[in-house]
Amino acid sequence: MDTHLHAHHDEVIGIKADAAARTHVSVERRQAMVREAAVDPNGFWGKEANRISWMVKPSKIKNTSFHDDVQIKWFEDGILNASVSCLDRHLEEGRGDRVAILWEGDDPSMDERVTYRELYNRVCRLGSAMRRLGIGKGDVVTIYMPMIVDAAVAMLACARIGAIHSVVFGGFSPDSLASRIQDGNSVALITADEGRRGGRSVPLKANADQALLECPTVKHVIVARNTDAPVNMHPGRDHWWATLARHADPVCQPEPMNAEDPMFILYTSGSTGKPKGVLHTTGGYMVWASFTHEVVFDYRPGEIYWCTADVGWVTGHTYIVYGPLANGATTLMFEGVPSYPDNSRFWQVVDKHQVNIFYTAPTAIRALMREGEKPVKRWRRDSLRLLGSVGEPINPEAWLWYYRVVGEERCPVVDTWWQTETGGILISPLPGSVAQKPGSATLPLPGVKPALVDNDGKLLEGATEGNLVITDSWPGQMRTVFGDHERFIQTYFSTFKGMYFTGDGARRDEDGYYWITGRVDDVINVAGHRMGTAEVESALVAHPKVAEAAVVGMPHEIKGQGIYCYVTLNAGEEPSDALLAELRNWVRREIGPIATPDAIQWAPGLPKTRSGKIMRRILRKIAANELDGLGDTSTLADPAVVDDLVANRVM
Ligand code: PRX
Repeated sequence: MDTHLHAHHDEVIGIKADAAARTHVSVERRQAMVREAAVDPNGFWGKEANRISWMVKPSKIKNTSFHDDVQIKWFEDGILNASVSCLDRHLEEGRGDRVAILWEGDDPSMDERVTYRELYNRVCRLGSAMRRLGIGKGDVVTIYMPMIVDAAVAMLACARIGAIHSVVFGGFSPDSLASRIQDGNSVALITADEGRRGGRSVPLKANADQALLECPTVKHVIVARNTDAPVNMHPGRDHWWATLARHADPVCQPEPMNAEDPMFILYTSGSTGKPKGVLHTTGGYMVWASFTHEVVFDYRPGEIYWCTADVGWVTGHTYIVYGPLANGATTLMFEGVPSYPDNSRFWQVVDKHQVNIFYTAPTAIRALMREGEKPVKRWRRDSLRLLGSVGEPINPEAWLWYYRVVGEERCPVVDTWWQTETGGILISPLPGSVAQKPGSATLPLPGVKPALVDNDGKLLEGATEGNLVITDSWPGQMRTVFGDHERFIQTYFSTFKGMYFTGDGARRDEDGYYWITGRVDDVINVAGHRMGTAEVESALVAHPKVAEAAVVGMPHEIKGQGIYCYVTLNAGEEPSDALLAELRNWVRREIGPIATPDAIQWAPGLPKTRSGKIMRRILRKIAANELDGLGDTSTLADPAVVDDLVANRVM
């Protein structure tokens, strides 16, 4: 990764008096929470469980072990339905007319306000309709949607009837969609005619039709009308959402779910080619979503909260849908991109909807920073009081720009570290009670026990650097890899015995602050999108002219990391610019636009050990143009290939 991402930065931005005055987690309260969660987790989380609605309150709180078989159970005798905490409860408590979802279209002239009551009605109708189709508790339903209100309705309707949703990002290709549907054995798919982003349309239904050719388990497809583009409807299988909803029972009883019943699957990349179905259960996830959304964003009733993520990622699940809705917040859902119609869009939307809390990714901040201050200053932004960052390390320069230019030094910045697997934020400042250091995610939340270990698993003390592990369970933790518990144990609990391994490296400073340095495995983070290099490699070798491929991350100014590919062609094939363009398009088609290679280098050979293992360390260095530190290449089968790669590196 780029060295500027790791620049040590000694500046400490104190706890702003203003923020401290308004925040409800004071320094003292935070300390008390940290202490209580450590000393008496059952007492602490038993109390926090009351923040959501239960049909039967749990009497057993924590029952977890990271050893041997790995057992993670929270609130195990509790019964609940996640949609009740997000909907019914607010209606019963007089919040029915509050805006739940504030939708802002890709087209700046389009928006929609959906109250809690309207959301409840839409969810119930879809839930009833799905039940009528025979979909129920434990069935997996894939959701492949644009960023429209119906995406959240679909998720909540699944939760209401006990179906397990598996949201697939709308930017994924038909192949990527198909493999996720197959892995989950989904019985139904919810999609839309088209999506819209940055003025362009995304043919979701057409992609889905192509994917479904290979997905015999899917019996029903529910299609939302969004752009009104013509689509093919497959008789008997495909249903218009609106038609189903019109005939559906407006009453939809929430399915009673055990706290440990599965709530959703979300696929994420690991070191191997096949994405893992991260499985979250109901009780612990909901408590964690609600707790972290409130304490990290210091959420106050009546405030407008905006997380710019997509519901296709975990950030969208926890911090657009479940966390904010559980807390009765008004959550802004944005269909578009920061650069359309122009680079001031974020700030124009902040003013238009008087946004108080704004949560985005470092890649967006860096892209906007490059455009200078003018597009920011065109808008007032005086409603903002808190800024958040997520998805990748934020370099101090970008942090400071966000803090000074966007927030005018008035808004605390919460740099939130977490993962799909963790369900919600684990390391972050609590505004008003933790002094900020630009570039550091700072300290663990109450109940979270991070540690650093060396490569042998030895715990490291004090100011140091190492592999980031978590030594005890928290309620929002994933429970298994869908359909493959062995892989769950292998991936997360076998590298370091008895500890959850995050796959990240981190530094800890003298104040105990964590500075995440990035992945230590073969996962790269491209513009905040997590990607397995093995996935891109298998897409490349699927091309008939490619013999072999190795993919590594390279430093990228805006995206954090870019995708650098070394490609060996089959004997007799000649490199050409046309083939280069063809391979780029090939990967886009196989995985999706987010996987588009930034650089492709023709490699007559790859550096391998005598036993045939590719030396990725060397490939990463060449891609990063760090040619002095290539290290010992004498163990390579053919050291000359390195000279060739160095001489012909691209970009
Ligand atoms: O490497 C870390 C990075 O993103 C990874 C998790 O990616 P994903 O499961 O897609 O979830 C992204 C949204 C939570 C982590 O292993 N990451 C996430 N947040 C941060 C981060 N790296 C540094 N600082 C962060 N705040």
